[in-house]
Amino acid sequence: MQRYNMFHQVHKGLRAMLYETALCLQHTEFDDAVQARESLAQLQEVIYLFNKHAHSEDTYVFPAVEKFEPSVADAFEQEHVKDHELGELLDQAIAACEAATGVAARLEAGRHVQEAFIAFMLFNLEHMAKEESVINPILHRYYQDHELHAITQQIVSAIVPEDMARFSRWMIRGLHNAEISQWLKEAELHAPEPAFQQLFQSVEKELSAVRFRQVLEKMTDGAMMA
Ligand SMILES: [Fe+2]
Repeated sequence: MQRYNMFHQVHKGLRAMLYETALCLQHTEFDDAVQARESLAQLQEVIYLFNKHAHSEDTYVFPAVEKFEPSVADAFEQEHVKDHELGELLDQAIAACEAATGVAARLEAGRHVQEAFIAFMLFNLEHMAKEESVINPILHRYYQDHELHAITQQIVSAIVPEDMARFSRWMIRGLHNAEISQWLKEAELHAPEPAFQQLFQSVEKELSAVRFRQVLEKMTDGAMMA
């Protein structure tokens, strides 16, 4: 039986954000103030959402691991400390880039930003993969799927709607059509109407017209089969 992977959806969103940001930085001419400002704002968003995500795991997921495997929980908490440090270094590189004046200084600061981002991205890609390969088997050994879904519910309820919209944007960009259809169907059944409407509108906004139509078709297929 396929067990519930509580990291799957949010990690796909966070990875999508890292990949798109990496490309965005490669396209940025840091001596162009407008381009630089937009890219640095996207980097701030990366730091913000990764901090929020680490906080959710520290608060709701790692305690469930700690109960049975305290040393594993401790090792992952330490990884979050390292993650936070890399986020701080990136933040400092962003500040230096904002303060830089003159073409040469701006380009140099832009290079430092890219280096700091790559260190942050590499660490987090490995860290997320490790969470899925090490923490999931522990959660699956000690908890039933319905208990793990309850932890996800706790996490979701603790996130304010504005932050949920910010996470959702990237999760939509990171998921494939069937996953988005399934998400919409579940939201239609279980979420309050305004939350479902907000998600539906974000899906329409973030996807191409072709993919949006395919997602809607998959939703209707499911309804006809049910
Ligand atoms: Fe995570």
